[in-house]
Amino acid sequence: MNEEQRLDTELVKPSLEKSAEKDYSQYFQTVYTAPSLKEAKKRGKEEITYHNDFEIDERFQGMGKGRKFYIRTYGCQMNEHDTEVMAGIFAGLGYEPTDTVEDANVILLNTCAIRENAENKVFGELGHLKPLKQRNPDILIGVCGCMSQEESVVNKILKTYDQVDMIFGTHNIHRLPHILHEAYLSKEMVIEVWSKEGDIIENLPKVRHGNIKAWVNIMYGCDKFCTYCIVPYTRGKERSRRPEDIIQEVRHLASQGYKEVTLLGQNVNAYGKDFEDNDYRFGDLMDDLRKIDIPRIRFTTSHPRDFDDHLIEVLAKGGNLVDHIHLPVQSGSSDTLKIMARKYTREHYLELVRKIRVAIPNVTLTTDIIVGFPNETDEQFEETITLYKEVGFDIAYTYIYSPREGTPAAKMVDNIPMEVKKERLQRLNKLVNDMSAEAMKPYKGTIVEVLVEGESKKNSKVLAGYTEKNKLVNFKAPQSVVGKLVNIKITEAKTWSLDGEFIGVVEKEKVML
Ligand code: SAH
Ligand code: SF4
Ligand code: F3S
Repeated sequence: MNEEQRLDTELVKPSLEKSAEKDYSQYFQTVYTAPSLKEAKKRGKEEITYHNDFEIDERFQGMGKGRKFYIRTYGCQMNEHDTEVMAGIFAGLGYEPTDTVEDANVILLNTCAIRENAENKVFGELGHLKPLKQRNPDILIGVCGCMSQEESVVNKILKTYDQVDMIFGTHNIHRLPHILHEAYLSKEMVIEVWSKEGDIIENLPKVRHGNIKAWVNIMYGCDKFCTYCIVPYTRGKERSRRPEDIIQEVRHLASQGYKEVTLLGQNVNAYGKDFEDNDYRFGDLMDDLRKIDIPRIRFTTSHPRDFDDHLIEVLAKGGNLVDHIHLPVQSGSSDTLKIMARKYTREHYLELVRKIRVAIPNVTLTTDIIVGFPNETDEQFEETITLYKEVGFDIAYTYIYSPREGTPAAKMVDNIPMEVKKERLQRLNKLVNDMSAEAMKPYKGTIVEVLVEGESKKNSKVLAGYTEKNKLVNFKAPQSVVGKLVNIKITEAKTWSLDGEFIGVVEKEKVML
């Protein structure tokens, strides 16, 4: 569907075109389209359509005059960045931002569905918002993000959370003005969640958080369908932005003085696989971006399966391409990896790490690990521990497996007691802590380059920033160095952070001052 057709169908209601089997009419809600995981799973050869035609309809101009919005974001950087886009749309409608819910006329929860506890936080927050809505029925409360893409969540909200005025999905963000408009007019809950969407809209407005670091989407969606993961259902099929649009955005950020860009995708190594007319891939993109005058370029997340030699070759050129790679392994057991459908083995992963280390000897590797996957044996868990040691990761994000309704793993018989899963997590976390502390020790006495982000969260008299390898560094220095690259001499190495003394602003920066 293109933008024009979308506008045409806007007031056709209720339209359950994408999930006809669901009937919400018993709740007398205004439903445009409700989610269907089954539909979300279907991946056809639909063409990816690029749009440059987003604009705020004249009817909606000034909708936000005298009104304020508040967005609470859960989940990954992708969601954080979607929040920046929604903030841009709100600004375009004339709304002002606020950082307290009490002050807001519109409250959005941009949700994450990755694990059960992520979802519980949102339901808890909706509970907290109920008295506010009762006191002030004129405020609008909306649920968007990945949870909105789940049928079960939408049903639950419909049944038990009548404080919610609107639910819209990850493919419907650009529809925010229409959804708000409808929510103001309607007494019922407005639901618009498209289960399938293959389009890319290039000219959505954005209000970025800060002016030092920026996120840049390079692709959307995920086609990997790891058996435990909900993301391919909530974010749709893999679709890459065109290189020229990405390069232009990064150039623009550089010219605005941003110092760091993080390229975003669920599986950035699959970048370009959907291009039919060329073989431009992630390595080529990195090779082009490296020529842009911006100090640091990161990317997240890398899937080991598509990490090719050309990319390694390009990353080895260094420069503004940082020497830190987040490379989620999930498990050290080939058998577990197989039923996770990760499509690589322990040996393949170790070989990839070997190749990366040969090309980039100074590289820092971090990872994600899931423990307690259905039927994970003690031996298989042990393989995760040995792999962790063998690779020598600096840090890992570790999770207990959480069944997600609609995914293949949720149907697997899970015979591992929660007690055992918790013990495994504790054991792994102990190793992660020990190895992180070990990786920090050599920093003591060295000088590192830090991009200063602002005051430390724990102590306002101290400034904080990150090294190229993403190590948090705390130090005292004048406020004027915020947003700059500085040299810091490390005086103390802790488990998760470093303390140091300010030496001075990095030379190349001085020239620019
Ligand atoms: N696209 C990224 C991961 C995004 S989700 C990648 O493939 O690397 C971030 C992490 O959450 C995953 O790496 C995984 O470790 C964890 N995760 C995803 N689904 C999960 C589930 N059902 N239970 C527990 N952890 C999960
Ligand atoms: Fe989920 Fe796997 Fe896709 Fe990552 S690659 S988002 S873990 S399905
Ligand atoms: Fe969560 Fe969706 Fe990101 S499920 S991790 S917010 S892609």
